[in-house]
Amino acid sequence: MDLYLQLGLLLLVSVNVHAQTDISKYMPVITPSISANITDKSFVLVQPQCLFNNFNTTNVWLVIALNNSYLTLNDDNLSNPVSYSSFKNGRYEYYHTLVVSAKKYPCPTNGSVSEYLIQIGSDSSESCSKIQYCNGKLRNNQTYRARFVLLKSTGVFDKTMWSEEISLRQDVQFPENRVWPSGRSGGMIVLTSILSVLLAILLVSLIVALVFGSRNICWKRTMKNEKHLAAMDFMTRSTYRSQYQNMYANS
Ligand SMILES: *[C@@H]1O[C@H](CO)[C@@H](O)[C@H](O)[C@H]1NC(C)=O
Ligand SMILES: *[C@@H]1O[C@H](CO)[C@@H](O)[C@H](O)[C@H]1NC(C)=O
Ligand SMILES: *[C@@H]1O[C@H](CO)[C@@H](O)[C@H](O)[C@H]1NC(C)=O
Ligand SMILES: *[C@@H]1O[C@H](CO)[C@@H](O)[C@H](O)[C@H]1NC(C)=O
Ligand SMILES: *[C@@H]1O[C@H](CO)[C@@H](O)[C@H](O)[C@H]1NC(C)=O
Ligand SMILES: *[C@@H]1O[C@H](CO)[C@@H](O)[C@H](O)[C@H]1NC(C)=O
Repeated sequence: MDLYLQLGLLLLVSVNVHAQTDISKYMPVITPSISANITDKSFVLVQPQCLFNNFNTTNVWLVIALNNSYLTLNDDNLSNPVSYSSFKNGRYEYYHTLVVSAKKYPCPTNGSVSEYLIQIGSDSSESCSKIQYCNGKLRNNQTYRARFVLLKSTGVFDKTMWSEEISLRQDVQFPENRVWPSGRSGGMIVLTSILSVLLAILLVSLIVALVFGSRNICWKRTMKNEKHLAAMDFMTRSTYRSQYQNMYANS
């Protein structure tokens, strides 16, 4: 699979490449380069460069763990990949994702290169139903840590440090039951609107009928009155329209 697709990478501005670091001393960091670096479902890490290039044939995983339990994860835990679904259903408090061979992490030869990013939480639930170690969406009410882990068939070969704690944004979500037209409450809102409109029409009809009726009974019909009524009919119709629009906007 194409690395850019698999890692959900974004190309960015030029930055200076840092001197090669020991894997075990590298700490994954949230990129400061884009403002959407932490959302309510995902976060964006800086992709390490020139970090794994001496271990081209080794698999590099990203392990995402709940902040509550990352300290309890030993090499046994890290060396047995846990799927996103096992994390999502609460069986595990961490999961493995975005496995690629180390040579897929580019090591630019020039001093100045573009920064590459890794978005955690970019896969839809549809792709997660097909891909075992998918990069699924995160929950916004939890705090996470991330680390790169190099695995060989014998187990953990090397690993970076854990990132700092990453708390997703507590964005106020538009409540699902208010989204028209899905959901029972959505249906109820629509029903209420229709009923209100019908009631408004009824009321208007009643008033018009009353006015009409009383005019027919008490007053002589003259050309002047006919004109007056026509004007009034126009008024009530426009009132009804704006009322309907208001209700639609509020519901
Ligand atoms: C996210 O990006 C903004 C600027 O775009 C930066 O100020 C902030 O420090 C970044 N967040 C983290 C956790 O680095
Ligand atoms: C690893 O792979 C890259 C790209 O294929 C290559 O440039 C580099 O020389 C390789 N490193 C080693 C140590 O073989
Ligand atoms: C993250 O975990 C550390 C260590 O267990 C704890 O001290 C800290 O309060 C936790 N942070 C959050 C936001 O839960
Ligand atoms: C890590 O593995 C040990 C066994 O080696 C297990 O007892 C422990 O529950 C695991 N930790 C987590 C957070 O799953
Ligand atoms: C390195 O930079 C030089 C000059 O900026 C450019 O000509 C060359 O193509 C670059 N090499 C790579 C591998 O990007
Ligand atoms: C986060 O929200 C989900 C439901 O959206 C809930 O099941 C879970 O217990 C919550 N977790 C925390 C740590 O509050």
